[in-house]
Amino acid sequence: MTRHIAVIGSGVTGISSALLLLRAGHRVTIIAKDFPAPFETIDPITQINYTSPWGGAHNRWVPPHPSNAQAVFEHPLSITTFSHMKSLFASHPTTAGITFLKGVEYLESPGPEYLSLTPATAASLQLSGFRLLPQSEFPDQKVKWGCEYETYCVNPMVYLSFLLRRFVHRGGRVLKHALRSPVEVFALSERSTPSLKNGGVDAVVNASGFGFGGDGNMFITRGQTVLVAEECDATVTRQNADGSWTFCVPRGFEGGTVIGGTKEVDDWGVEPRPETREKLLRMFKGTCPRILNGKGEFTVMGDIVGRRPSRRGGPRIEGEVLEGGKGFVMHAYGLGGRGYELSWGVAERVVEGVEGYFRALRGESKI
Ligand SMILES: Cc1cc2nc3c(=O)[nH]c(=O)nc-3n(C[C@H](O)[C@H](O)[C@H](O)COP(=O)(O)OP(=O)(O)OC[C@H]3O[C@@H](n4cnc5c(N)ncnc54)[C@H](O)[C@@H]3O)c2cc1C
Ligand SMILES: *[C@@H]1O[C@H](CO)[C@@H](O)[C@H](O)[C@H]1NC(C)=O
Ligand SMILES: *[C@@H]1O[C@H](CO)[C@@H](O)[C@H](O)[C@H]1NC(C)=O
Repeated sequence: MTRHIAVIGSGVTGISSALLLLRAGHRVTIIAKDFPAPFETIDPITQINYTSPWGGAHNRWVPPHPSNAQAVFEHPLSITTFSHMKSLFASHPTTAGITFLKGVEYLESPGPEYLSLTPATAASLQLSGFRLLPQSEFPDQKVKWGCEYETYCVNPMVYLSFLLRRFVHRGGRVLKHALRSPVEVFALSERSTPSLKNGGVDAVVNASGFGFGGDGNMFITRGQTVLVAEECDATVTRQNADGSWTFCVPRGFEGGTVIGGTKEVDDWGVEPRPETREKLLRMFKGTCPRILNGKGEFTVMGDIVGRRPSRRGGPRIEGEVLEGGKGFVMHAYGLGGRGYELSWGVAERVVEGVEGYFRALRGESKI
């Protein structure tokens, strides 16, 4: 018997999960307030809580180290995502919105997780193309450690539009609807919501980003970046001594390059700050001058402000049987600044969680 799963959320977490659930043979409907659309048409004020359009988005390895439990948990998810991205890129090099390129890192204050990286440990962590940079390749004296590796960037709205199209092409359904609570989904029926043509809902995936209150561990991390027209052949990241970050993420597909970026905890500011733009551009110019145009300047297309859906203790990827047996919710939210680079790993966990619940329903195992 095929079951019907409603996925709440059409960001990178929801769509990736929906695709893998569909592939596993289920009926799947994505229900969301916001859906992917051309980046140029996403509204920076009314859609600021929809984080996926405002991401870079690159894959930047966070080496797992015993001192960082969250990185240890997330690393396998990033490895799974890397291999999915690689095969999507191989089969759809010009349409999926994915670009494989070199990742370069310059750190001013490297922690033990970086200092312990050698070509051998990097290989055991499955970081492909890893090379430690000699000092002669650092941009200046303040940089203490550097490396490069093979990685990828996505153009968020090109990529997610591609995934959503693939989802519908394979039989998935979508419903544009603002929910008051995830539980409301169980009450939606074909009769009351004609576009929900998949029948009653057997399980819900909560990939709502920062959509609903209720989880006191959730907070937002504001990110301001600048979109410039210049292209770059690598995604370059610099950690500054004060803990701030300077980076570029080429979006590809005529989407320009994102220069970033801030990490401002609990900062709900909607408007871009001009002084932040100036600082981001100045810092990146010093780090990677080869990106500049013929006049030694950037061609600024605009500012970007987003809210990373962050969570104390890390992402929540777990199932919950609602009180009184009212239904099953598989949570997949709180991905913070890593939603793209963990997406396929998260989606695989979502499938495992939902199928574990169905097995328990059939009496084959305990939840
Ligand atoms: C400046 C910046 C740079 C970033 N750079 C990177 C990067 O380089 N690499 C990387 O991996 N990540 C990056 N991120 C993080 C990444 O963008 C997020 O982790 C990711 O987009 C989160 O996706 P999500 O699907 O979990 O949530 P969202 O994209 O926020 O999606 C939530 C979905 O839930 C729906 N929803 C919410 N509430 C309701 C409701 N009440 N009813 C119906 N639907 C609802 C929304 O409409 C939406 O469809 C960056 C983020 C920012 C802000
Ligand atoms: C974004 O989310 C916050 C917190 O839930 C809410 O107060 C705000 O109204 C939302 N903004 C928009 C434009 O929906
Ligand atoms: C669903 O996700 C939100 C985060 O968007 C969280 O606050 C909430 O507790 C989750 N669960 C339910 C049942 O709402």
